[in-house]
Amino acid sequence: MAASSPIRPVRKAVFPVAGLGTRFLPASKSVPKEMLTVVDMPVIQYAVSEAKEAGIEHFVFVTGRNKAVIEDHFDIQPELRDTLAARNKQDMLDVLDRYQPEAGTTSFTRQQAPKGLGHAVWCARDIVGDEPFALLLPDMVMQAPKGCLSTMMDVYNKTGGNIIAVQECDPEEVSSYGIVAKGADVEGGFEITDMVEKPKKEDAPSNLYINGRYILQPDIFRLLENQETGAGGEIQITDAMLRLAGEQPFFGTVFEGNTFDCGSKEGFIAANVSFALERDDTGPIIREMLKNLL
Ligand code: G1P
Repeated sequence: MAASSPIRPVRKAVFPVAGLGTRFLPASKSVPKEMLTVVDMPVIQYAVSEAKEAGIEHFVFVTGRNKAVIEDHFDIQPELRDTLAARNKQDMLDVLDRYQPEAGTTSFTRQQAPKGLGHAVWCARDIVGDEPFALLLPDMVMQAPKGCLSTMMDVYNKTGGNIIAVQECDPEEVSSYGIVAKGADVEGGFEITDMVEKPKKEDAPSNLYINGRYILQPDIFRLLENQETGAGGEIQITDAMLRLAGEQPFFGTVFEGNTFDCGSKEGFIAANVSFALERDDTGPIIREMLKNLL
């Protein structure tokens, strides 16, 4: 697809949630790490709400064993609703309604073996079909007045092609992420000229890291089909994207908000503190408590 081809709407989003979450043992032994709460919402809900804000209509979850509770979270619970209604708890029913996906707008498929992020995304190929889609890595929780994916959609609606959100990281941390090389500026973003998954510091083309939000054309599935294993012996989405960039326009856009890696203890705790401070109901008291603790 050339940049001048018609720009097709992005209606579906893929959420890979099959990871074991070993960094959160023992908590993640029976509770998926995506269901741990940042203040009072599960981590997965932040990414789904961000996608909804960006206009996504269908939510595709790539799950694994022991993740069934994620499916329950997005279903209706009649007994709970009846109990809340009988107790006149309208405010709590409103909370449930606010986060309830419409019937028929969620799909679940399983990644049957831990073969990497690229393989997880490939598992969604039949559900996504032949249309562009968003990919959100739920561990990365974003905090900003306007969602990261919404900002990317603004760029996509002008450029088409493929878009990845990036942010600057400490040069010491490049080996933890996918890193991109920046080319010429385009509307609201820049051309990507290279990408490398978890490079050594001396091999990194920049300190712009891929923060876990993507808009991709469906051609990525064809490339993932025969993608060889890369960093960590896993099938990497970054490697397939680099090949796709040889065929199609590929752009980066810098996200200006906060990103918390809730796959790590530090990031998870920082997210809890930051969101709790931001909220009207918890902000003042948490600020006081933090002052006392410090
Ligand atoms: C994945 C991606 C990487 C990206 C990162 C963001 O890595 O492969 O390119 O920078 O997510 O969190 P993972 O964290 O799954 O190792």
